[in-house]
Amino acid sequence: EKGNHRHFMQKEIFEQPIVVAQTLQSYLRPLEQKVALPDMEFDFADVPRITIVACGTSFYAGMVAKYWLEQFARVPVELDIASEFRYRQPVLEEGGLALFISQSGETADTLAALRHARAEGQRIAVVVNVPTSSMAREADLLLPTHAGPEIGVASTKAFTCQLAVLAALAAKVARDKGRMSEEEEREIVAHLSEAPAAMNAALGHDAEIEAMAPLIAPARDVLYLGRGPDYPMAMEGALKLKEISYIHAEGYAAGEMKHGPIALIDDNVPVIVLAPSGPLFEKTVSNMQEVQARGGKVVLISDAEGIKAAGDNVIATIEMPKVHPLIAPLVYAIPVQLLAYHVAVFKGTDVDQPRNLAKSVTVE
Ligand code: F6R
Repeated sequence: EKGNHRHFMQKEIFEQPIVVAQTLQSYLRPLEQKVALPDMEFDFADVPRITIVACGTSFYAGMVAKYWLEQFARVPVELDIASEFRYRQPVLEEGGLALFISQSGETADTLAALRHARAEGQRIAVVVNVPTSSMAREADLLLPTHAGPEIGVASTKAFTCQLAVLAALAAKVARDKGRMSEEEEREIVAHLSEAPAAMNAALGHDAEIEAMAPLIAPARDVLYLGRGPDYPMAMEGALKLKEISYIHAEGYAAGEMKHGPIALIDDNVPVIVLAPSGPLFEKTVSNMQEVQARGGKVVLISDAEGIKAAGDNVIATIEMPKVHPLIAPLVYAIPVQLLAYHVAVFKGTDVDQPRNLAKSVTVE
């Protein structure tokens, strides 16, 4: 039930610190400071390549995972949306691992892709939220998320739980491949353990984000910009906004703006910039300034340090806690979810049951 919340989506957004902590509990051993995956019949050390396949929000979790797996484990990762993967005759290396990500475990495109990968001799790993689902049953390695039932059509808590599992997976693959030291593993465990508290701090900005809804609601188009793992987060923010508020929104890699989309910028187009301070900050900010120079109305989502450095000439800022770049996607998911939620509520759309959408898409 919705409890004190007006919508399931709102309830599910606010549940995230708890369900992410629950999920992490089964993938981290905090006392030993190790990551732990369920028993498996193959060894990541033997996996030459990982192919990640999913749809929608789950695909964006996969995109974040690609950054992590490449960075930590130095394993080549291919990534595709399921409806394309299945029919483009992908070249799958013998002994490869195919990783499917799905809240429902029933999405027809993803399930068809899974069966195709199996027929092509891939080992099958799945990250799913419904443990009794088809995908869960057909996996060689089942990596459950413990988000609990997700009722709102727009995925929120399942997504951040997917990220938590995928971060643990990336660390485990890196360890098994000898690409990560015990010390680095300890650090990863420590950073991930901080995620729920940081997510809680992000939720503390709910009222402020609600107050921004009237600024965004009249827009016809909204752009979201990010770099590195925050690029998929920009796409996820845009997807959330279009799904529930019916405002056209796109997520772009910040550096790609000047290659075309900047032509769209005028003072009617809000641009949401996700820029945690860190190695990519300066570059993202220079892209943000290109937008500002063309009259774009920027909402900057960053930490205190980032806002101090670049928070002038923006229409609003949302201050996130300062976090390690690894957990930034888990934390920055929250303001973009809340922004979409409040804009939709402000516009009076049906947040939990957006038009034309179904919770589980079981046709290809
Ligand atoms: C977005 C959303 C969809 C799903 C997609 C995949 O909010 O809910 O984009 O993420 O349909 O669904 P699952 O994860 O069940 O395979």
